[in-house]
Amino acid sequence: MTNDVWSDRAQAYVESDAHRSGEDLDQMVAWAEGARTALDVATGGGHVARRLREAGLEVVTCDPAPGMRPDVICRAESLPFADGAFDVVACRTAAHHFSDPAVALREMARVSRDRVVIVDTLFMGEDVEEAERVRDPSHVRNYTEAEWRAFVEEAGLTLDDVRFSEHTIDFGAWLARTGCGGEDAERVELLLGDRVADGRLTLDKLALLAVKGF
Ligand SMILES: C[S@@+](CC[C@H](N)C(=O)[O-])C[C@H]1O[C@@H](n2cnc3c(N)ncnc32)[C@H](O)[C@@H]1O
Repeated sequence: MTNDVWSDRAQAYVESDAHRSGEDLDQMVAWAEGARTALDVATGGGHVARRLREAGLEVVTCDPAPGMRPDVICRAESLPFADGAFDVVACRTAAHHFSDPAVALREMARVSRDRVVIVDTLFMGEDVEEAERVRDPSHVRNYTEAEWRAFVEEAGLTLDDVRFSEHTIDFGAWLARTGCGGEDAERVELLLGDRVADGRLTLDKLALLAVKGF
């Protein structure tokens, strides 16, 4: 094991059913239509990059965890790319781990020529936040729709589309990916209440398309 939790978990995120597929990935690909180049920020297991490449885009991946084998090792808050370097900048299911999502979105807007596409888990209340932190101490915070709208505005982007969905995943696999078991797992299940049913966990998701200019 390394001291880098994300590198230690890399294979679990490559293989994760919860990350490999989903309507949110289809939506991201649809929003990237007509673009030639893309940056996949916080690529993790590389699922956004794979789907965008299948759609014909040239994709660069980045992530701070070397074990995720990104093309470029960097944090979203400090992207080592030129202004307007990519037609589309995409970031899926990762911003809730960023220390400063507002700065990260500003960076994504800077390196984008045209569009920024974000998917993340929505804020579902303080009990869910605590459950997320017990399950994974690297969880920082899920944000509300209003907070996301503010990040978009502060980054100088214009919100073009926003979609909401429910993502239902295997609860045991979700716990196992971060090595959460025993009393911690029991506490997480209690905090999540009726979001867990029949071994499945339902999370609220937001997908947004933001564009440069007005
Ligand atoms: C849940 S995984 C990403 C999932 C992936 N985007 C997908 O669609 O399957 C979260 C990723 O965020 C990365 N990460 C954590 N903090 C970060 C930061 N400050 N900037 C960029 N990436 C970060 C982790 O290394 C990890 O690979």
